[in-house]
Amino acid sequence: MSGGAEQADILSVLAVVKERWKVVKKIGGGGFGEIYEALDQLTRASVALKVESAQQPKQVLKMEVAVLKKLQGKDHVCRFVGCGRNDRFNYVVMELQGRNLADLRRSMTRGTFSISTTLRLGRQILEAIESIHSVGFLHRDIKPSNFAMGRFPSTCRTCYMLDFGLARQFTNSCQEVRPPRPVAGFRGTVRYASVNAHKNKEMGRHDDLWSLFYMLVEFLVGQLPWRKIKDKEHVGKLKETYDHRLMLKHLPAEFSVFLDHISSLDYFTKPDYQLLMSVFDNSMKTYNVVENDPYDWERTGTDGTLTINASATTPQHHTRLTPAHMAMANASLIPGDLLRENTDEVLQDEQLSDGENNPVPDRLPGSPVLPLRHQEADVWEELDRNRNRIRTAVWKYHFIHGAPRCWLTWQSLYHITRPRSKSEPTPLLHVIPTLPLPFLSLSIITID
Ligand SMILES: Nc1ncnc2c1ncn2[C@@H]1O[C@H](COP(=O)(O)OP(=O)(O)OP(=O)(O)O)[C@@H](O)[C@H]1O
Ligand SMILES: [Mg+2]
Repeated sequence: MSGGAEQADILSVLAVVKERWKVVKKIGGGGFGEIYEALDQLTRASVALKVESAQQPKQVLKMEVAVLKKLQGKDHVCRFVGCGRNDRFNYVVMELQGRNLADLRRSMTRGTFSISTTLRLGRQILEAIESIHSVGFLHRDIKPSNFAMGRFPSTCRTCYMLDFGLARQFTNSCQEVRPPRPVAGFRGTVRYASVNAHKNKEMGRHDDLWSLFYMLVEFLVGQLPWRKIKDKEHVGKLKETYDHRLMLKHLPAEFSVFLDHISSLDYFTKPDYQLLMSVFDNSMKTYNVVENDPYDWERTGTDGTLTINASATTPQHHTRLTPAHMAMANASLIPGDLLRENTDEVLQDEQLSDGENNPVPDRLPGSPVLPLRHQEADVWEELDRNRNRIRTAVWKYHFIHGAPRCWLTWQSLYHITRPRSKSEPTPLLHVIPTLPLPFLSLSIITID
């Protein structure tokens, strides 16, 4: 868990759950749970074990299990292995995947993905979103760390959707869209939340798509305009007044269709997933992207070997509103029992009890565990360190030349700083996007 005071892990290495899953190491700790890599002693497979303290006020694992089970057999979904609970914790065991997309992006030299990688990831994420909507659920926390690439040669080019803890059923038992509540508590992660979500409106299918749009911009640019702002209300106001068409400068021209479509949707309207998919397909044609291109993290290194990273190694960036984040972000309190509020019909039968929930898998994963990569540097931390150096130069200029001559907007600065090709050296410009807004105008003058 993140955000609060340092807490002891629920499980330690070598602990065995249900006499079957032996903990190998912790691989993630999110807003609501802890994720471990474990060895299934029955099948010898490596699995992911997600646990949630039984004492935790917001119990979300039941929802995770319900949605995971509903989605079994669909592309972009981890295989469900088992679930259960004891007096200390609830747990779910699922197929283990490789590194999440937040980690992967941050491990790129510029902190960005190429157009080719972005378009192919975007298409997979859209398919995943359509899948969850097709079973009557919204994800409500679409963000890069909730998607991971597979870890075996047969799955490492497939992107998997994770973390259904904040999912909500938007249809009733007749498959009709449920009436929206007049006010709903904020759910999700501030950076990727839609304007709608910021306004505490009932979230719909379009809100998941807005988060995908923000993800795509971040993949290509390396950040979003509100990256440095912590306050939820402040970010909401910025998004509300922000002219989103400015973001299209950084995306293939076809994305104006994407933006127009999601802007036209409301809670009740079913998105035209095919239209959105055609945006990816057409952009891929324009940019000569083919499915078999290597993903950015697969590109050959200097020794000619293909790099496939198997495991998350960089620190997690949890922006979901944990209790501590909520205080910081001045978010609305989550009223009542989150689980009950989100589940209604679906979860009434859902059991986390041990026993029948741990089926023996019908197949064993066939591939060996891939080697771990060394600790990746967080490019943003590195850039933040550089910021102080730039600041000094900026202030020197300021004192010599007086007040700034012009104010540059985030987007115009971005137009300048966006890497156009891998070979283009832009070391100083590369540092600028981390400067707080007041410094942006000054820093561009310094460079001029
Ligand atoms: N099946 C899995 N295979 C591999 N890694 C996983 C798996 N599930 C989760 N992870 C890793 O653990 C991280 C956190 O998982 P998850 O998002 O499910 O937890 P969370 O507590 O809901 O996190 P957050 O609140 O930050 O979204 C993921 O970003 C991913 O790196
Ligand atoms: Mg998550």
